[in-house]
Amino acid sequence: MKLILLLLTFFLSAQAYAQQDTEKRSDTGHQERHGQQGGMHGDGHGDHEDGEHGGGHGHGGGHDHEGGMHGGGHGHGHKLDETRLKQFFEPLPESIIDAKKNAALIKLGKKLYMDPRLSINDKISCNSCHSLSNFGVDNESTSPGHEGKRGGRNSPTTMNAALHIAQFWDGRAGTVEEQALGPILNPVEMGMPSEEAVVKKLKAIGDYKTLFAEAFGDEKDPLVYKNVGVAIGAFERTLLTPSRFDDFLKGDKNALNESEKRGLKKFVNMGCVNCHNGAVIGGNSYRKIGLVVPFETSDPGRYDVTGVESDKHVFKVPSLRNIAKTAPYFHDGSVETLDEAIRLMAKHQLGMDHVGHGMIRDIKAFLGSLTAKNAE
Ligand code: HEC
Ligand code: HEC
Repeated sequence: MKLILLLLTFFLSAQAYAQQDTEKRSDTGHQERHGQQGGMHGDGHGDHEDGEHGGGHGHGGGHDHEGGMHGGGHGHGHKLDETRLKQFFEPLPESIIDAKKNAALIKLGKKLYMDPRLSINDKISCNSCHSLSNFGVDNESTSPGHEGKRGGRNSPTTMNAALHIAQFWDGRAGTVEEQALGPILNPVEMGMPSEEAVVKKLKAIGDYKTLFAEAFGDEKDPLVYKNVGVAIGAFERTLLTPSRFDDFLKGDKNALNESEKRGLKKFVNMGCVNCHNGAVIGGNSYRKIGLVVPFETSDPGRYDVTGVESDKHVFKVPSLRNIAKTAPYFHDGSVETLDEAIRLMAKHQLGMDHVGHGMIRDIKAFLGSLTAKNAE
């Protein structure tokens, strides 16, 4: 009797959960279409209420998630057909900036991104912490900036970042254009003393005078601090990394192998997709780390931005594109391997205490299919 009740409860909550998911997907779709414009969604998230997923997932603990009720990838229960996949995911857009029209701007942005002269001692560029030849990261838990000083957070990748609802782990900058102006003046990053100092330094470099004039031809005084951000942001908008998963979403069923497909199914059926969804598989909502089982961290996260009590330990859900290449993980870079990140996610976000090796192996395989195609 107890068992029947339990099953019934699970069935009902699963139903409610599925419905909720559908609703959320239409929300998310909305956010994504408009997200590029900027920070206007910074406070419009409103979908991270704690416990919202408790119903769907809090049941975790004692069940066998390898097989059993979630279908374990064998297809009974939740079938992963195209319609269902499209509720959760969409392929990366071909482009989000007109590269031809903005060629001069993008060229300038790339030069600035790579240029250590944007830092006080000519040693650190954006590329030092967000290496273009290394998936936009430095693979350090926290990054050494000016004089080797480190901040408290892990460098997220700049790849596909322009598609996020906002920038930084806590979403405190609205756009990549706005974000880019922060690190240059940050004493533990590039350490420049002031906007004026940056402009003065750039004006003394002949190349930049010309490049700014070409990029901002219609402006009287093109070399101003704000335009440094505009140019770097434009360049960052070109950093999209399509993967085999995009081919799969567009209909090429052979783009993923069997293990990757099993992993995808588990990723969806377990509920990872509830937070990691959309075009960049995340990046479009704010959620609490430790939603079901508390997670030890002293970082207040989004609380620092909003001052709202329920935003403590809430972070922007990271994109999972290229995730196999961007270790270490989490906002503080405290998690070294992808296996461990998956295990901790299952436990703390979904209340699943004992996920098996097979589960982790398959999900990891699926996540591997999100690596940039040109890098495989
Ligand atoms: C010393 C290392 C360092 C340097 C130099 C640096 N960054 Fe970062 N970057 C970080 C860290 C750490 C974060 C996360 C900070 C946080 O969330 O509070 C970050 C966050 C970002 C993000 C947000 C990505 C996301 O997913 O939210 C972007 C975009 C970015 N940096 C671009 C740049 C650009 C452009 C430059 C050069 C102007 C730059 N960074 C210079 C370390 C660095
Ligand atoms: C309730 C929302 C939620 C669910 C469900 C969820 N995640 Fe996450 N995920 C997050 C948040 C928020 C973070 C950032 C945590 C932090 O840095 O402290 C994150 C971080 C990660 C990271 C590390 C990313 C990075 O760049 O460091 C991986 C990998 C990941 N999640 C995979 C998964 C997998 C696999 C599942 C399913 C087993 C899952 N997540 C379920 C919200 C969620």
